[in-house]
Order: sequence, then C-alpha cells, then structure tokens
Amino acid sequence: MRKMLWFASLSVCSVLAFSCGSGSSGDSAGSSTTTTAATEAPAAASTPQGVGPIKEVKLNSPLDQKLVASGKSVYELKCASCHKLSGEKLVGPGWKGVTDRRTPEWTMNFVMNTEEMLNIDTAAQKMLEECMVRMPNQNLSEPDARSVLEFMLNNDGKK
Ligand code: HEC
Repeated sequence: MRKMLWFASLSVCSVLAFSCGSGSSGDSAGSSTTTTAATEAPAAASTPQGVGPIKEVKLNSPLDQKLVASGKSVYELKCASCHKLSGEKLVGPGWKGVTDRRTPEWTMNFVMNTEEMLNIDTAAQKMLEECMVRMPNQNLSEPDARSVLEFMLNNDGKK
C-alpha cells in the first residue's frame, strides 16, 4: 500500500512539474522524490512561525543597508530565476508584499527548511497547489537567509 502511494505521488508530482513548463522543473521533480513520506508526516497545520530552526527574528530599525545589499546578491544568484520582486508570479510567487503575508520567522524557516515546510505547513502547501513546482531547498546559511529577509523588507518599502 505504502509503495503504491509512493508511486502515485511520484507520478503526480512529475506530471505537475512538467505542466508548469519551467526550465527548473527537473530540479523540483528530483527533490519531490525524496519527500514522498508525506503520508506519514505529522498532522498538517500552519503556524505563524512555521517549522524549522528559527524561533525568533529581531528586526533592525532602520534596516541594515549592508545586509540588504548582501541579501540582494543572494537573491540575484539563487532566487531571481524563480521569484520576481513585483507581485507577479514567475515559477514561485512574486515577493512584493511577502513580508506582510508572512512573519520573519516563517519566511526564514521556509527558506532554510523548505522540504519540511512544504510537507507539513498548510500555507506552504496552498502555494504549492498554485505554483505546481516544489521549491528546491537553496541551502542558505542562516546569515544568508537573514540577509535575504532584510532585502525583502527593503523591497516592501519597510524602513
Ligand atoms: C526553482 C525555483 C525556485 C527557486 C530557485 C527559489 N524558489 Fe522560492 N519558491 C518557489 C516556489 C514554486 C514557491 C511556492 C511554494 C512551492 O510551490 O514550493 C516558492 C516560495 C517561496 C517563498 C514563500 C513566498 C510567499 O509568498 O509566501 C519564499 C519566502 C521563497 N520562496 C524564498 C526563496 C528564496 C529566498 C530563494 C533563493 C535563496 C528562493 N525562494 C528560490 C520556487 C523557487
């Protein structure tokens, strides 16, 4: 039975990835094969903090512009292929307003713990249904994830 489910979800994922028609679907189809134990995951729920290593984020006021700049380079290198800075969807959602939709903790946990978040956080799963591509974990260090958050806050006009 478990094996059948595994196979079924594997084929569903690859169909979805193809239907999205993005250049990066290979990646995400690959990563979906490692997370097919979803049927055994703890009950799905969404919490404001999400799940992952980040329990509390202290925001800078005013924003740290050096951190914004390093977040921008991480974005350009690892995120821009799938995320626009406007509200427009590319492969993933546009980042305009993301800091209003999500808490800083949720955002950092999503970036650092992408597989588990997609498996058990219902808000993340809702996005997955819309985008039909599993975001591959980008393996950011905590400082890199924090700098991207600063860059997102800056992009949303936060001071
Ligand atoms: C291969 C494409 C891809 C890359 C590269 C990528 N993402 Fe994503 N991202 C997605 C998709 C698709 C989603 C929507 C959830 C899903 O379907 O997995 C998403 C969702 C998100 C969200 C939640 C957005 C919201 O509106 O709540 C955040 C935050 C995020 N990504 C951050 C990042 C960061 C930071 C990077 C770079 C370090 C990155 N992503 C790189 C595809 C990608």
